[in-house]
Amino acid sequence: MPGLFDPLTLRGLTLRNRIAVSPMCQYSATDGLANEWHSAHLAGLARGGAGLVTIEATGVTPEGRITPGCLGLWNDAQAEALAPMVAEIGKFGAASGIQLGHAGRKASANSPWEGDDHIPDSDPRSWQTIAPSPIAFGDELPKVPREMTLDDIARVQQSFVDATIRANEIGLDNLLLHFAHGYLGQSFLSRHSNNRTDAYGGSAENRARFLVETVAAVRKVWPEDKPLCARIGVIEFDGQDEETLAEAIDAIRKLKAEGLDLVDVSMGFSTPEANIPWGPGFLAPTAGRVRQETGLPTTTSWYISQPEQADELIRKEQVDLISLGRPLLANPHWPYEAAQKLGVENPAWTTLPAPYAHWLQRYRAA
Ligand SMILES: Cc1cc2nc3c(=O)[nH]c(=O)nc-3n(C[C@H](O)[C@H](O)[C@H](O)COP(=O)(O)O)c2cc1C
Repeated sequence: MPGLFDPLTLRGLTLRNRIAVSPMCQYSATDGLANEWHSAHLAGLARGGAGLVTIEATGVTPEGRITPGCLGLWNDAQAEALAPMVAEIGKFGAASGIQLGHAGRKASANSPWEGDDHIPDSDPRSWQTIAPSPIAFGDELPKVPREMTLDDIARVQQSFVDATIRANEIGLDNLLLHFAHGYLGQSFLSRHSNNRTDAYGGSAENRARFLVETVAAVRKVWPEDKPLCARIGVIEFDGQDEETLAEAIDAIRKLKAEGLDLVDVSMGFSTPEANIPWGPGFLAPTAGRVRQETGLPTTTSWYISQPEQADELIRKEQVDLISLGRPLLANPHWPYEAAQKLGVENPAWTTLPAPYAHWLQRYRAA
């Protein structure tokens, strides 16, 4: 059985280990453009030893950003700003990925430290949100989105395709489509947010249609040798979990037929009524089930912070890749320390670069 420090190959991409940086919004962009902060943040994570560095949820259209500070990839200037950062991730030995998304009814929000709520309509920074149906999320995010027309659906899918072409042009190795967390893809999939009566609503097959078509369209322009992944909320913790999971597994099988290579198993966050059983690695058994029933490799995140635990989840074949968010914000060198803890030796990157290693050794010995 492979472990945390064995390479993982997906199509033509081989990761140096099975540690991925889970996408994390930095809320620090202007007009969707990456800046010095993104550069320092991403380079630090790549140098820290992760196998895959995934850039935060990046809007495929302006109205698809979660907040005004989120990255975008709907124009060439945004691609040009990201290009050197993608190259730098590669220079430090990590594969580069990006999460492309549209925030749907959860867009036009304040950053977490500004309240995590919708920007009031009276504020000039706010914008009209769109979604499958005109249903608001709830009290924290009360804006009622405009119901998408068929033209809107086609336009957003084309924006996913255009952003994918840009992602390829700037050398990104991996693509992660954001179909989780109550954003647009998830809103189509979920009964909580989709009551359409056309081909995109109603039956589980219809609710999955937006996702299946988007994957098919993106796969056509994303090179054959590059992996295509999706983050999907397969469970809502709303009391209907068996049904939701069964529907999600069916949808994932269809995505696999369109060329999906890996699922990042996450939650739906489609209703404020969810009762989530937070705990160390609590989504891993669900990821294991998705892996077994779809035959696709999986990853998951959420409260996985110990190297032994991460290694075991891979050896137990629940996931093929571990995604870490906050542990890597707290310590970008988590992979080096994990390698040391698990007794992994030899690969050059498992040793801290000399300017750090030398002083750290002396500091610890003192
Ligand atoms: C600051 C921050 C920003 C995040 N932004 C995103 C994002 O852009 N896309 C996404 O799918 N999840 C996002 N998440 C969720 C993380 O990817 C991850 O799933 C979550 O933090 C749980 O993993 P952890 O327990 O290792 O932190 C974010 C989390 C944090 C802490």
